[in-house]
Amino acid sequence: MDRLKSLDPPHKGLRNILSQFSLMAGNTNYKSKSEIEELKSLGADLFLLLQNHAKNEDTYILAPLKEKYSKETTYVEKVHSTLDQMELKLKNKLDSFDGNQSDEVGHDFYLSFTEFHAEFLKQIADEDRNLEVDMQTAFTDEELVQHQVAIMKNMDFSVLLLWFKYIVPARRIAENVQVLTAFKSAGAEAFEAVLEVIKPQLSQERYNLIISQVK
Ligand SMILES: [Fe+2]
Repeated sequence: MDRLKSLDPPHKGLRNILSQFSLMAGNTNYKSKSEIEELKSLGADLFLLLQNHAKNEDTYILAPLKEKYSKETTYVEKVHSTLDQMELKLKNKLDSFDGNQSDEVGHDFYLSFTEFHAEFLKQIADEDRNLEVDMQTAFTDEELVQHQVAIMKNMDFSVLLLWFKYIVPARRIAENVQVLTAFKSAGAEAFEAVLEVIKPQLSQERYNLIISQVK
């Protein structure tokens, strides 16, 4: 039986924005103010989502597992803290850029990002293979849905929109149809705001395919 995968949507969304940032960090002219502004803008989305994800994972994944099964999560917490430190260094470095950086400085930032990216991808693949299964063993799908509802309820709407922006293009059409159909209960205004955010992220064909199936 197909089980609900709590970690899959945010991880796919993060892989999407991490890849976009990797590409842009490589093609940015670090001597150009406008290109640096663009990189910083994508970086702002990236760091916000990374931090939000870490908080959600601590609260809705690691804490419930510990509480229900006294599950040993120290290892995951240790890796998280190493990644947090790498992430903070990158964020500070990016903040310090003003469009007057040399190619060498830009290249070094790009490589530092790539090192973080590699470690991060390894970690979330490991979580998808192991932590996800722990969650499925510990909780029923109904309980996992309740976790998702709680995450969405406790999130600022602007952050939720940002997740939609990067998750929707990274998921299958049927998965998006299911989520958007459920999200209609949030009201017409919220639903329209989501459509506005996802439309530019999808091909016209893919967008139409999703929308035509949302009930
Ligand atoms: Fe994660």
